[in-house]
Amino acid sequence: MEVKLDRKWWKESVVYQIYPRSFKDSNGDGIGDLKGITQKLDYLKELGVDVIWLSPVYQSPNDDNGYDISDYQSIMKEFGTMKDFDEMLSAAHDRGLKIVMDLVVNHTSDEHPWFVESRKSKENPYRDYYIWREGKNGKEPNNWGSCFSGSAWMYDEETKMYYLHLFSKKQPDLNWDNKAVRTEIYRMMNWWLDKGIDGFRMDVISLISKNSEFPDGEEGVNGYASFNEAANGPHVHEYLQEMRQNVLDRADTLTVGECSGVTLEEAMKYARKDEKELNMVFQFEHMDVDADGNNKWTDKKIDLRELKAVLTKWQKGLEETAWNSLYWENHDQPRSVSRYGNDSEAYWELSAKMLATCLHMMQGTPYIYQGEELGMTNAPFDKIEDFRDLDSVNAYYELLEKGVFEKEQMLKYLRYKSRDNARTPFQWDNSKNAGFTDGEPWIMVNPNYKTINAKEQMERKDSVFSYYQELIRLRKKHPIIVYGRYDLLLPEDRELYVYTRTLGREQLLVICNFSCNERTFPLPEAFAKASDLVKIIGNYCDCAIEQNMRIRAYEAIVLQCNASASDE
Ligand code: NOJ
Repeated sequence: MEVKLDRKWWKESVVYQIYPRSFKDSNGDGIGDLKGITQKLDYLKELGVDVIWLSPVYQSPNDDNGYDISDYQSIMKEFGTMKDFDEMLSAAHDRGLKIVMDLVVNHTSDEHPWFVESRKSKENPYRDYYIWREGKNGKEPNNWGSCFSGSAWMYDEETKMYYLHLFSKKQPDLNWDNKAVRTEIYRMMNWWLDKGIDGFRMDVISLISKNSEFPDGEEGVNGYASFNEAANGPHVHEYLQEMRQNVLDRADTLTVGECSGVTLEEAMKYARKDEKELNMVFQFEHMDVDADGNNKWTDKKIDLRELKAVLTKWQKGLEETAWNSLYWENHDQPRSVSRYGNDSEAYWELSAKMLATCLHMMQGTPYIYQGEELGMTNAPFDKIEDFRDLDSVNAYYELLEKGVFEKEQMLKYLRYKSRDNARTPFQWDNSKNAGFTDGEPWIMVNPNYKTINAKEQMERKDSVFSYYQELIRLRKKHPIIVYGRYDLLLPEDRELYVYTRTLGREQLLVICNFSCNERTFPLPEAFAKASDLVKIIGNYCDCAIEQNMRIRAYEAIVLQCNASASDE
């Protein structure tokens, strides 16, 4: 039976995210840079990925490590020059690697010339590029909080009005209702496309259209409403369709929208199959399973049943209508092996491979965050001075001051959840500073680099790195991994995550143990009866295929069979 597939290169690709500041430093200033990336392209080729998503490399005062852009068409000094960028792009293309740029256009830096002008006077031609409001009863215009603590409104002495900043006060929100702003953004995007880049990861793109009434929202633990009150606003789909027509349709791009606050219904619009807006979105619901309502600062462990329910909702919900992105990690999340796996010596490697299996066997485009392919772990930050991330530092002072948490408790939560866990330098080898820099690294190196590093793992056949290589190879070989239908088994099991993939007659059975308990699992009928059952990957080498499968601590195994043929 021939199955008709809606084939797209971006569905069949594996994307690798580089956080340039922490990837590879080529000039000894302790900060990763573009030349460093160029030097390491062969490493990515060896891993087998197809696309690189570059976190922002544009000129920026670095209040939020490049997510505060002061010039969209020049390169951050610490990262190099436009010539370095062009060299990196062509070296990537020479190797068949595509480059997707981070597009941060919900806001700019307050040092962007548009904002410098905008704040000068109410009559300035750039005034309306940003969102300015009068105060209400001597206070902020509404109760929205910034994602990085405090109010989302900043009072500006110059004109005695407030501007909106859903992120830091150095990241004022652009006014997308102003046609001139949209035109400028599309022009800039086209300029990058003309350079030959291959797509955009769009930062918090779900927040660009605000409800002009600015209604109050429900208060969270810090006394403010979530910045997500702005999510999926009235004109967001109209603007993205306009962007599609003015920019994206000109090239064969990969587009992924970081969609804070996105629901399944909204995702079906953003990532609709007819490609009127984006190819796929990053949703956050599985990242919120271990949050406490709107408060992410806890050390609550995930309940696997909830995680399965959320991921299954997205797998089934977008089936046939849109497309999923698959991720456990990025630069805003702690390390997955420390969060969903087990980073103790006994289980670190097994659980890193198990998580990789669980994610990479689902339907969608997988994203690997730098170091995830080595099973890099959370870092042992000791004190608040060790943290660099403004989100973590602001939350620490705000929640301590408000008496929400005690100091040690908050440090414990930061160690577990801080974004800095993902931002420690990439561990290349066991030499000083993990081979990341000859200078003083901008953030501490995780001391476990002596054992967890790329050099050691590239030389070892049973390493986490080799396992990722194999997962990527399998995806290229078996269309079922990309296109097969997903179905969950055992929704109520607290330890095993089991699902099937189906494409025509072919089926896969994916069994992942999220615990250190040994379990047995009776094979479902189609697999039990199959005469051609084979294991295509697993993280224990000595795994026996039996009617009653023995599933050991953090074991992952994928079985393949030709289900209907076996019934004949
Ligand atoms: C989402 C980005 O991923 C995060 O790193 C950044 O701080 C905010 N957007 C603001 O741009």
